[in-house]
Amino acid sequence: MSLATQFHDRMLSLGLARVSEAAALASAKLIGRGDEKAADQAAVNAMRDQLNLLDIRGVVVIGEGERDEAPMLYIGEEVGTGQGPEVDIALDPLEGTTLTAKDMPNALTVIAMGPRGSMLHAPDVYMDKLAVGPGYAPGVVTLDMSPAERVHALAKAKGCGPENITVCILERPRHQEMIAEVRSTGAAIRLITDGDVAGVIHAAEAGVTGIDMYMGQGGAPEGVLAAAALKCMGGQIQGRLVFRNDEERARARRAGIEDLDRIYNRDDMVTSDVIFAATGVTDGSILKGIKREVGYLTAETILMRSKTGSVRRMIYRNPVR
Ligand code: FBP
Repeated sequence: MSLATQFHDRMLSLGLARVSEAAALASAKLIGRGDEKAADQAAVNAMRDQLNLLDIRGVVVIGEGERDEAPMLYIGEEVGTGQGPEVDIALDPLEGTTLTAKDMPNALTVIAMGPRGSMLHAPDVYMDKLAVGPGYAPGVVTLDMSPAERVHALAKAKGCGPENITVCILERPRHQEMIAEVRSTGAAIRLITDGDVAGVIHAAEAGVTGIDMYMGQGGAPEGVLAAAALKCMGGQIQGRLVFRNDEERARARRAGIEDLDRIYNRDDMVTSDVIFAATGVTDGSILKGIKREVGYLTAETILMRSKTGSVRRMIYRNPVR
């Protein structure tokens, strides 16, 4: 393999940060405007334009949807200049469209890149997820445990009581029983209305965010993105696909998944070293959102490489022309 066609994660990472920044800057004018679709479209257009400037032979493996439902950044779309390494790309140009439209915390633009074949082609179905940050023994908590067992196991490993554990859960009717069970242990719950990639990342920085564990069902594509983030930051995530009907099962089979009941660990979802970038759209506990000043927009991006475990935060002040 020639040098030009190898996956140089270090060299590509700055380009990846630019892609994520561009999407966030483009959606900035739609923060708080009540129009989810317009905000998403602005982010998609900008992300795609920037990606197509990169010297890669990229294929979107986690994207905006299947080809017939998403005209841009659909699963299987080829991106980049067509010169350079063959890479797989997982992206969510606007993770938290409702959060953006309502100007609520933790909306992000998210993108991960790795060599061809490095990321699970997760279909657009739900995934049952469980994540904790770095520093715990492998399997400290598992999807097979009940929510209460997970809290007790994590508290034991952390050397504290369950009342000192905080769990992040998406506020959805489907999580009512889980929420009640976690509360019965005495643990605290940070409920979020959307954005479970950010929810999982929060668990990887427990000291900063106060969140020890993420659990519950959210999008499977977001599960792979979260696994890519944890591969860089350290931490564990388990995911199991959840199917509501035969059409969803067929979707998974079309994506090449044979064992529909499989539990995926982080390194099953992301099998080799990747780079990951996310830019804040609205203010959150891990990233500041886009800041507007007269003549300028400022964006904060987190850029990470799993090979080195490096986590870089970058502030970009961009003149508005
Ligand atoms: P969008 O940004 O596509 O709106 O997704 C937001 C999100 O909250 C994800 O973070 C999460 O995985 C998923 O939606 C949960 O799905 P649902 O809203 O159907 O419960």
